Amino acid sequence: MNVWQTLPSHFLSLAPMEGVTDVVFRQVIAKAGRPDLFFTEFTNVSSFASERGRHDALARLTVAPTDPPIIAQIWGKEPAHFAELAAALAELGFSGLDINMGCPDRHVNKAGGGAAMIKTPELVIACIKQAKTHTDLPVSVKTRLGFSFVEEYQTWLPLLLEQQLANLTVHLRTRKEMSKVPAHFELIPEIIKLRDQISPNTKLTINGDIKDRAQAEAIWQDYPAVDGIMIGRGVFTNPYCFTTHQPTQAELLDLFHYHLDLYDARAAELASSGSRYPYEPLKHFFKIYINNFPGSKELRAQLMEAKSTAELRQILKNS
Ligand SMILES: Cc1cc2nc3c(=O)[nH]c(=O)nc-3n(C[C@H](O)[C@H](O)[C@H](O)COP(=O)(O)O)c2cc1C
Repeated sequence: MNVWQTLPSHFLSLAPMEGVTDVVFRQVIAKAGRPDLFFTEFTNVSSFASERGRHDALARLTVAPTDPPIIAQIWGKEPAHFAELAAALAELGFSGLDINMGCPDRHVNKAGGGAAMIKTPELVIACIKQAKTHTDLPVSVKTRLGFSFVEEYQTWLPLLLEQQLANLTVHLRTRKEMSKVPAHFELIPEIIKLRDQISPNTKLTINGDIKDRAQAEAIWQDYPAVDGIMIGRGVFTNPYCFTTHQPTQAELLDLFHYHLDLYDARAAELASSGSRYPYEPLKHFFKIYINNFPGSKELRAQLMEAKSTAELRQILKNS
């Protein structure tokens, strides 16, 4: 039994989000209320394969005790490098590997990875094959409907389903659409049909604009054949989105303190191995905890001026 077969018949996962869903933030979400399955941010296979990049790649692939089951998301375009990283993942504590074929970032696409793979089907097949033959872990793919046109899903998704993946996550937009148009929920029945016809054992996860458990339950009501629902930006509106709990301001503040403690512990851990855990990205999270109450905007502005977690704590204490 692989991890996908052990999940509930309807499962929620936290979307991989670069610069967001690292080992620290995943622990924050685990405390608020964990999804059935975590994903890491994406790791470049060629970075892992290089002497210079391996240290950073391994830092990205750190697994916390609260993470399992967790899937490592990886990207690249060198089949041999997929093989090398795939072979290492089980020992690092992962339950599966997921290949990113949806990232719209220009640098990633220029390097032939992410959504650019939609245009290189032979390479896609080679990378999946290399990953599969070098690990016993289940291999999955996260992608979009197509690169430029929605209709591309009619050939692109079958090609992926023919690879007998453990799970296929479809972000219901094209690369060209980025996140600028509403997700194409109207295509869910067609996508279910393709999965059922081509690879009925492949789990199907739907992603895009789904904010919380309540919205996911409504989708499952309409489309019970959808196995998984993946939530990304919903965590910014409510870090408790995998539960039905509506947090109080005091709970969010406690969670913020927990995040700061984890940040400090991670920074100390990385410093001891000669690396830095940057402070600036921490600012992206303030709005999650300090929002929607009188004075929250002013308090956030103050927090943005702080230069350390010690200063953040002092500002929160004085507020
Ligand atoms: C800040 C950010 C970083 C992201 N990084 C990744 C990534 O590393 N891998 C990936 O497959 N998707 C990535 N995505 C896309 C999300 O996984 C997800 O597909 C997208 O946000 C749509 O889902 P949502 O509407 O629930 O947020 C990222 C999205 C955001 C907002």
